[in-house]
Amino acid sequence: MKAVIIGGAGFIGINAVYSFLGKGYEVVVVDNLSRKGSAYNLEQLQQKHDVPFHNIDIRNADAIAAFFEQEKNLDAVLLLAGQVAVTTSVTNPREDFDINAMGTFNVLEGLRLSGQKPLLLYSSTNKVYGKMEDLEVEESDKRYEYRDLKTGITEERQLDFYSPYGCSKGAGDQYVRDYNRIYGIPTVVFRQSCIYGPNQFGIEDQGWVAWFTIATLMKREITIYGDGKQIRDVLFVNDLVELYDKAIQHREQCAGKIYNVGGGPDHTLSLKELIAILEERFNRPIDRKTSEWRPGDQKVYVSNIDKVKADLGWEPTTGIATGINAMADWIEANRDILNHYVFGKSLPVC
Ligand SMILES: NC(=O)c1ccc[n+]([C@@H]2O[C@H](COP(=O)([O-])OP(=O)(O)OC[C@H]3O[C@@H](n4cnc5c(N)ncnc54)[C@H](O)[C@@H]3O)[C@@H](O)[C@H]2O)c1
Repeated sequence: MKAVIIGGAGFIGINAVYSFLGKGYEVVVVDNLSRKGSAYNLEQLQQKHDVPFHNIDIRNADAIAAFFEQEKNLDAVLLLAGQVAVTTSVTNPREDFDINAMGTFNVLEGLRLSGQKPLLLYSSTNKVYGKMEDLEVEESDKRYEYRDLKTGITEERQLDFYSPYGCSKGAGDQYVRDYNRIYGIPTVVFRQSCIYGPNQFGIEDQGWVAWFTIATLMKREITIYGDGKQIRDVLFVNDLVELYDKAIQHREQCAGKIYNVGGGPDHTLSLKELIAILEERFNRPIDRKTSEWRPGDQKVYVSNIDKVKADLGWEPTTGIATGINAMADWIEANRDILNHYVFGKSLPVC
């Protein structure tokens, strides 16, 4: 199998690269290294493996087209590159659009013009469903829950793009789906919930499970937007990259389809619950303050993962405690780097 991973130096991307290499794939990485920490991920990778890397920005249509003209015999293209924070999309909606909507379109066009038909896997988001304010939620001491929807949100849920990020990712999501219908390129859309794990440079604006864990271990204050009872289904990154592999191995089962992907109803976590877990696990109180809800924040989001289970025989296998421990081990081993990339501190001179 030969796979191109666009955004392959980022959090999910680098985990996919290691996993695919372990399964004997030939891997090519494309990234513009704009995310803080991605250059470090790439450097670590290249110390261990000889993996071809192309520094290409997906906003550059000509460069993407030239890449697909040159790189042949592809079985899969994993499109992970993106502007990933809702907050950034609100302050700079044009850049967000250029990267997520146009960038995705450029990749689709580059593939189409090259005449190749590998499976294109697209990392969409639960934000395409908006705030879902019509759904009744129940409130308890530490969390909200859906009153009636115990198995979570299915793919039948009406789209309601919310925030520039929701719009730009949603545009990509629909284009990716349509390139299957109109041009016969096998594509699959994964509407991902919260993913967490090692190699994640979580910051306040994106990657909350990682950010809370980093802040706890490095004794920083966190801000809780809203009341902290909002819940998400969380998915450990290794489980997600196993799904990508299954999709590539069984493209006939998933091409042209859209799946909600997350930890599902068995792996849900509220902000308050994560704080309690971290305080107990690391035996220290976490400094925190509260602030207003952020745009598009859903009180509850839980993916219904029945469709992906049925079609691809996939389900999450990593429990929350195990996943957090693995991530914490990586944080402990990379304190200096995290200080530099997450908190902007100078690196020690070696
Ligand atoms: N992490 C999550 O919880 C989550 C949830 C839902 C969806 N997603 C989606 O999954 C994808 C990967 O997320 P991640 O958490 O690994 O993010 P990440 O920021 O760690 O990785 C994204 C990578 O893309 C690269 N990149 C950004 N803009 C680029 C451009 N214009 N050209 C080329 N490369 C570019 C970055 O340098 C980075 O290495 C994103 O598209 C994101 O929207 C992530």
